[in-house]
Amino acid sequence: MVEGVYDVLPGTYAGLRVEDFGNSVMIPAFSDLHVHAPQYPQRGLGMDLLLEDWLNAYTFPLEARYADFEFAREVYEAFIQDLLANGTFHACIFGTIHRESTLYLVRRMEELGMRAFVGKVNMDMQSPPYLCETVDGSLRETEAFLEACSGNRFAKPILTPRFAPTCSRELLGGLGRLGAKYSVGVQTHLVESLWEAGEAKRLNPDCSCDTEIYEKSGLLGNGPLVAAHFIFPSEDDICILKKYGGYAVQCPDATVNIIAGIMQTAALSDRGVHLSLGSDIAGGHLPGVYTQAARSVQLSKLKWFYEPDGNRPISFANAFYMATKEGGALFGNTGSLEAGSAFDALVIRDASDSFRQLSPEETVERFCYSGGPGDIRARFLGGKRL
Ligand code: GUN
Ligand code: FE
Repeated sequence: MVEGVYDVLPGTYAGLRVEDFGNSVMIPAFSDLHVHAPQYPQRGLGMDLLLEDWLNAYTFPLEARYADFEFAREVYEAFIQDLLANGTFHACIFGTIHRESTLYLVRRMEELGMRAFVGKVNMDMQSPPYLCETVDGSLRETEAFLEACSGNRFAKPILTPRFAPTCSRELLGGLGRLGAKYSVGVQTHLVESLWEAGEAKRLNPDCSCDTEIYEKSGLLGNGPLVAAHFIFPSEDDICILKKYGGYAVQCPDATVNIIAGIMQTAALSDRGVHLSLGSDIAGGHLPGVYTQAARSVQLSKLKWFYEPDGNRPISFANAFYMATKEGGALFGNTGSLEAGSAFDALVIRDASDSFRQLSPEETVERFCYSGGPGDIRARFLGGKRL
């Protein structure tokens, strides 16, 4: 735990080993609020397709392979190592429909002390036969998944209906009952594309918006609510998300790769919506959340340029806050170096060169725009150096 940040070490700490990192900058570790671990092997592929075609051509066939636990173990191990390398110590993760494979992620992250919400995906319609569950089978496997995670300190379960186009109301209602029984929250893709939002309404004509489907199914209010993308929300979507203290997760690279829409970050922030960032591997192609902080600034300018009404560019500080303190709050006392926070921190190499001496803030900005794992000199997870 962080006890304080001092210019001069108080006497009570005399005799402790001190390590001098010179001109480096210490920052909180990053939180990725939307990432698909099973899609790690296809990052950077199929990026010229749009969501529906990308899912059918790339994602669904790959996700089917996680019926094989050995394959899952190998991929998930590499995925977790890449998270750590990139300074992402907390994450909301989609697995696949497969319980045992998804549990590997949970167990490894719990062992490592990485805070996470991990979900076994649910999907029972409009999906290829090899990934399509029955309602009963999906609920049974989900309950077994929740039972297997009970008692975890760091890696916790979260209900994960994929999105409205692939989930029947019967399935969502059953998940809502499990959420209430086990006090477990929900993550899903919400108003992520015009196609998805249209499908959500077509399939659920009794609901005024995508978010209401989950509210009517009893899925909201049992735990955290994590809404990936949230690019095309109606007023009703925003009101319901706010009512439950939900997080809207911007995934800037995924947005331009497969979705074609830009979140109204400034407008949502002004409305008091919790905003955070996600890599959305492999809709996004880069694992580092710091890259998404940079991209969030870029996209806010494009949004404002094309739709000046109600939009404005966000500052780099805003975007960094989304990647650290605001997203980190979902996991408890993380995402900050204030006293009382978990000591999950990164030491970033001074990015000054012979042309320009950088301030600490500038080093962090340059790292987010053009840095990588090699610029992280040290990583501390739960107070221990990795
Ligand atoms: N919507 C439904 N499934 C997915 C997925 O795997 N990735 C993204 N980005 N959007 C989705
Ligand atoms: Fe996604």
